[in-house]
Amino acid sequence: MHIIKNIRLHQNVDGGQNLLLEGCGSTVVELVGLTRFARVALGSKPLTILYFPFRIGRLSRTDLSSSAKQDLLLPDNQPYSISRNHVVFERENGKVFLVDLDSSCGTIVDNIAIGQKDRGEGRVELSCGQHTIAIGGADSPFLFQATVRTMKPADSLAIDNDIPDKFPQARMLYAKLCQYEQNLLNNRELSPQERGMAAEGMVRVIVSRPDLLELLQRLASNPVSGSDYLAQHSVNVTIFSIVLFKNLEYPQDDMVKIAAATLLHDIGMQDIDRAVFLKNTTLTAEEYGVIKRHTEIGGELLRCSDDVCSVAAALARDHHERIDKSGYPRGINILSDVTRFVGILDCYEAITHDRPQRPAFLPPEAMRILAASNNTAFDPGTRKAFVNVFSFYPVSSVVKLDTGEIGQVVGVTQGQPLAPTVRILTAADGTPDVEQRLVDLSRL
Ligand SMILES: [Fe+2]
Repeated sequence: MHIIKNIRLHQNVDGGQNLLLEGCGSTVVELVGLTRFARVALGSKPLTILYFPFRIGRLSRTDLSSSAKQDLLLPDNQPYSISRNHVVFERENGKVFLVDLDSSCGTIVDNIAIGQKDRGEGRVELSCGQHTIAIGGADSPFLFQATVRTMKPADSLAIDNDIPDKFPQARMLYAKLCQYEQNLLNNRELSPQERGMAAEGMVRVIVSRPDLLELLQRLASNPVSGSDYLAQHSVNVTIFSIVLFKNLEYPQDDMVKIAAATLLHDIGMQDIDRAVFLKNTTLTAEEYGVIKRHTEIGGELLRCSDDVCSVAAALARDHHERIDKSGYPRGINILSDVTRFVGILDCYEAITHDRPQRPAFLPPEAMRILAASNNTAFDPGTRKAFVNVFSFYPVSSVVKLDTGEIGQVVGVTQGQPLAPTVRILTAADGTPDVEQRLVDLSRL
């Protein structure tokens, strides 16, 4: 009994769209109102500021039309006369600053007056910890406590363990990872170290849930990409890399570093013209040249000396290099194991997912392309390890056997990429198989 046909299966992974979009910066500010007026301004709840700059302004009666520009508006109580753009939180190189350049009444931060208009300091750094901020001087009715803290990915990637089934948990984690990745790739303020830390934190959340890894792999194999396919592609390749390197028995710390680097491999795309990147017709040679630049840009964006960054910078620069020198940007053929493995996973993910220019290939078709002995872009060792772990028929593929029965792949046998274990769903005549027998094709 052999598989003769692979059937495309679409899964709905849109369940996470209602999740809040959360920032991936390493610092956040939590603002709590200490007075009744301040609490009313915050809507009675603590406010977590993820995006910077964030303004707190007094609403001027003469300037109501532009109030929409404000992040937080306070009611203007006469006789207070404070400029509308009163205080701005800013983030720079991972640090948080409170800025008061224009107000006529100044600001009190930790009992120190600031306010450039009063010839004082225009801005003050808020170190991690608690700060007391009075908007409009010592007699202000608007008193806040601002807590600056480092945000851990686990804070925003936490999933609801009360959900009884694993699949909704995996789907929630997958959706959050994609949203988090979207911010990580698009946030231009982050330093290389911050990017590395954020990516490593995300990977540690994934590896802390080995019970969800197979389900995450199924979600990553869904050929339909969401609105930001670059973020989804990066998360998918990362999940595949965790599966691969785990199977290859890499030490956990090495695997985490490699997977964190994988999350960042396409970060150079942030500087590529979106119109070229999202073009839905064939790219011209000139446009392809523009796309190729993402490798060198990514290498530069991640250049720093710490562990994760140096792996990530090399991978961002080299993941399109091939051992037959057909790759870019340098056309080199001496490549690390990490570069060769992530290179093939990157290709596999791209081929098996829809792109603006073409629909997805089925996994067996992609395997045939990548594992072919005449594919000189990848060495035999890389191809063999990849095929053994991922198989021609990945878990969750729906397949038709030569008996006419239809089933779903539920397990892959190492070293037997053409003979997975299949759960029989329907008999040859289409009637449901009530027993849902398991057939290990490697034993036939
Ligand atoms: Fe790339």
